[in-house]
Amino acid sequence: MNGTAKTRPQPAQRVAQQPDDVWSIVNDAASKSPIQPVVNMGQGFFGYNPPDFLLDAAKEALNRVDANQYSPTKGRINLRRAIATHYSPSLEREINPESEVIITTGANEGILSAFMAFIEEGDEVIVFEPFFDQYISNIQMAGGTVKYVPLIPPARGDVETSTSGDWSIDVDKLEGAFSSRTRMLVLNSPHNPVGKVFSTEELTLIGNLCVKNNTIIIADDVYDALTYVPSKRMATISPEIWNLTLTVGSSGKTFYATGWRIGFLIGPDDLIKYVAAAHMRICYSSPSPLQEACAVGYPMATKLGFWKTCKDDMQSKIKRFVQVFEELGLPYSAPQGGYFVLANFSRVKIPDDYEFPPHVACRPKDFKLCWFFIVELGIAAIPPSEFYLPENAHVAENYLRFAVCKEDAVLEKAKEKLRGLTKYIV
Ligand SMILES: Cc1ncc(COP(=O)(O)O)c(C=O)c1O
Repeated sequence: MNGTAKTRPQPAQRVAQQPDDVWSIVNDAASKSPIQPVVNMGQGFFGYNPPDFLLDAAKEALNRVDANQYSPTKGRINLRRAIATHYSPSLEREINPESEVIITTGANEGILSAFMAFIEEGDEVIVFEPFFDQYISNIQMAGGTVKYVPLIPPARGDVETSTSGDWSIDVDKLEGAFSSRTRMLVLNSPHNPVGKVFSTEELTLIGNLCVKNNTIIIADDVYDALTYVPSKRMATISPEIWNLTLTVGSSGKTFYATGWRIGFLIGPDDLIKYVAAAHMRICYSSPSPLQEACAVGYPMATKLGFWKTCKDDMQSKIKRFVQVFEELGLPYSAPQGGYFVLANFSRVKIPDDYEFPPHVACRPKDFKLCWFFIVELGIAAIPPSEFYLPENAHVAENYLRFAVCKEDAVLEKAKEKLRGLTKYIV
């Protein structure tokens, strides 16, 4: 040592300002809870394995020399073909697997690649609030600015059960969000965390505004295997809308294999080629054997009736879980799609003298509920104000988000824990 204390390398701005994220708060509370183990209904990972036909296909792929090497940037042709075949009917057109599909490392990296492909410093991207949190950092990493448009919760959501379809678009705010710098808009349907499946009228309204403003639409449809109401895809609303739409999918979500990191984008070739250019620089290509497994997975799923089974199973999990809210007389928002349930706890009164640690005491009510549920009841859920700007956090602060993609026995345990709320309900 020469006596001069060396300063540690400092992080770039884009990662330096991250506040205590929701997961660190949940984990901190879980480690302090006297009730162990805590039932984790927070994060949206599956509590069970992918179907056997997918696992078998992955094991076979691992034995193939070519399937253990780099894939082409746009993805392996077998998977691109399987996706084109599977998605052509619902996209109401013949998808060209050579030019209109790209495989990405999870939907998230696909969305990042799309932002990297089209956003210049200072361009604006419209995002509905609440939002999937990765959108924001992905947009900012590409140099973009986020324009937020709120979804309005059901007016009587604090007192009666509603459906996620009752969350509505603030049309004036949406129209006002477009400017000469608007480059892209992100629409997630079925929506995380709300569970809303946007109606054809809503898609038409949003899509036409994008056409008018020459704005690329990221139609984040990662929960598309789990829609419980009739629905159309954004890209089918009109040829002009197709021309501007990148439909995003996730084989990880579809096949209960979120750790495989296989996602994809489908869209017109003159948009897909630039997404591919960005994807090539970010990660070059995505895991080869798992692409081959998913390529087998789509036609097998159709042959074995998996699409109906997965919807039926998830709906029965939702039904099983929300029964506890019926029992407790607490309102919830019944999802039209996906596997998240938002329950409303405005009737739950946390004792006035309850002591929260400072990093929770300064957050909105849903963070306090989250902490209280973990420490006092032994169940973890996600505070949805995490998916809002701080100034709009109050909008959803009576809600908590529960992921029901867990074994039935876990759901029953979760319900048992929630029954402990009885003495706090006013
Ligand atoms: C709305 C939404 N989009 C995208 C993703 C990312 O999907 P993937 O795991 O395929 O990257 C998620 C994951 O939670 C999500 O909720």
